[in-house]
Amino acid sequence: MADAFGTALKGPRAPMDADAVRAAYKRQVVFYDNWFGLVSQHSRLAAVEAVNRAPGEQVLEVGVGTGLALPLYSPAKRVTGIDLSADMLLKARARAETLGLRNIEALQEMDAQATSFPDASFDIAVAMFVASVVPKPRLLLAELKRVVKPGGTILLVNHFARARGPIWWVERALAPASALIGWHPDFRTGHIFEAADLKAARITKMPPFSLFSLVELTNEPR
Ligand SMILES: C[S@@+](CC[C@H](N)C(=O)[O-])C[C@H]1O[C@@H](n2cnc3c(N)ncnc32)[C@H](O)[C@@H]1O
Repeated sequence: MADAFGTALKGPRAPMDADAVRAAYKRQVVFYDNWFGLVSQHSRLAAVEAVNRAPGEQVLEVGVGTGLALPLYSPAKRVTGIDLSADMLLKARARAETLGLRNIEALQEMDAQATSFPDASFDIAVAMFVASVVPKPRLLLAELKRVVKPGGTILLVNHFARARGPIWWVERALAPASALIGWHPDFRTGHIFEAADLKAARITKMPPFSLFSLVELTNEPR
C-alpha cells in the first residue's frame, strides 16, 4: 500500500482530505496562535527573513493560516496568501486590516495543490508548516514549481519525522490521530525534493529541540 507521498506505508496513517483539514483548523482556530503559533514562531521568523532576503517582490504564502507571518514581511514584498480554511483566513484578514498591512495583495480561499495562478506568477513561494498537512505534498511542490518563476525561491519550514529513536516512536504513535490534530507527525521528507526535481536544498534545523527544519530550494532542475 502506498501513502500520500507515493512511498510504502510502514504504519497506520489516518487519511486527511480537504474536509478533514477544514474541520481540524475550524476546531483549532481559537487557540492556534497561543499554542502552535508560539512554539513555531522562531522558525516562522527564520522563514520570513529568508523570504525578505530573496530576490524579487511577488511572494506567495500557501497555508497562510491566521496570518501570523504577515506583519513580518518587508513592506517591499507584495504578498498573496492562500488557505483551504475559511476560518483561519478570517483571522488572517482581520490581522492584515487591523495592522494596516498595505503590502498584502490578497488573502484567498484556495487549495495549494491546485491553485488558479498562471505559471511563473511569483518570485518566491513559502509554505510554513503546510507540507505535513496537505494530503499530497508532491502535488504541493509541483504546484509551487509551476507558479514560481524559473530561478525563483521556494521555502518550506516544517517538522520532518525522525528516521529512528524515541521521538520517532512518538511520531508513529501520534500518526493515527493526524485528522484530529491537523497534521501528519510521521511526515518524512528528503526524497520529495528529489522527486520534485528541485535544486539542492539548504536545510537548517530550528528550535525548539531541532523540531522544525527550514528548507531553501531554488526553482531550477537538480
Ligand atoms: C499548521 S497551519 C500553518 C499556518 C501558518 N502557515 C503558520 O505559520 O502558522 C497549516 C495551514 O495549512 C492550511 N492548509 C492545509 N492544506 C492546505 C491546502 N491544500 N491548501 C491551502 N492551505 C492548506 C490549513 O488550513 C492551515 O491553515
